[in-house]
Amino acid sequence: MVLFCAAPSIGFAGIRYRETGDTGVQQVEVAVIGTGWCGGIRAETLSRSSIVDKLHICDIRPDRLAEVKKLTNAATATSDYHDILKNDRIKVVYISTTPESNHYPIARDCLKAGKHVLLEKPIALELFEADELIEIARRGNLKFTIGYSQRFNTKLAYARKKIPSASIRRAPTATCRRSTAPMTSCGAP
Ligand SMILES: NC(=O)c1ccc[n+]([C@@H]2O[C@H](COP(=O)([O-])OP(=O)(O)OC[C@H]3O[C@@H](n4cnc5c(N)ncnc54)[C@H](O)[C@@H]3O)[C@@H](O)[C@H]2O)c1
Repeated sequence: MVLFCAAPSIGFAGIRYRETGDTGVQQVEVAVIGTGWCGGIRAETLSRSSIVDKLHICDIRPDRLAEVKKLTNAATATSDYHDILKNDRIKVVYISTTPESNHYPIARDCLKAGKHVLLEKPIALELFEADELIEIARRGNLKFTIGYSQRFNTKLAYARKKIPSASIRRAPTATCRRSTAPMTSCGAP
């Protein structure tokens, strides 16, 4: 069976799991590297997921690491992501670090270690880096996806649908604004 998860909550699709007697799923061990704002949400969600056997977390900020460990009851917590690479039981890694310049080296190392990776946007700062990550994932037959939860935002999906259609034939200018205002005030369905 193939597991498909909605990206905003779990954010990872396509990992194969075997059905077992009790729960119907075989769980995987998952790590989150970078447990700041976004990674903290990922870690909390993963900690409650029946798909996850053990959660491992990594952050270079000891205070935040301790906070998220307490919140998630993570099996291990480390400040060095190489500990995640060395752990063969960890199959899936979520990378949620800042600054974005470290997305490429950390993702590259995880993919080279044979981990399936969800990397928070942006994929990399340079196109050649992005190409290399995709190539390593292809060669290793690994799942590699970019966390971009706005892809599932109904307002953006609506705009995307309309732009190539007859209702917006030619757009001379485009203005984007992201806001947390209720959907009704934005006038979008
Ligand atoms: N999927 C989405 O739609 C979405 C939404 C928000 C943010 N993001 C992305 O998620 C990423 C994280 O954003 P954030 O707002 O949570 O940032 P943040 O600064 O709150 O958290 C980043 C964490 O990474 C840690 N870190 C940095 N280097 C590290 C390393 N070498 N090893 C381990 N930990 C390390 C930092 O200590 C920090 O706790 C960004 O790239 C951002 O663009 C994605």
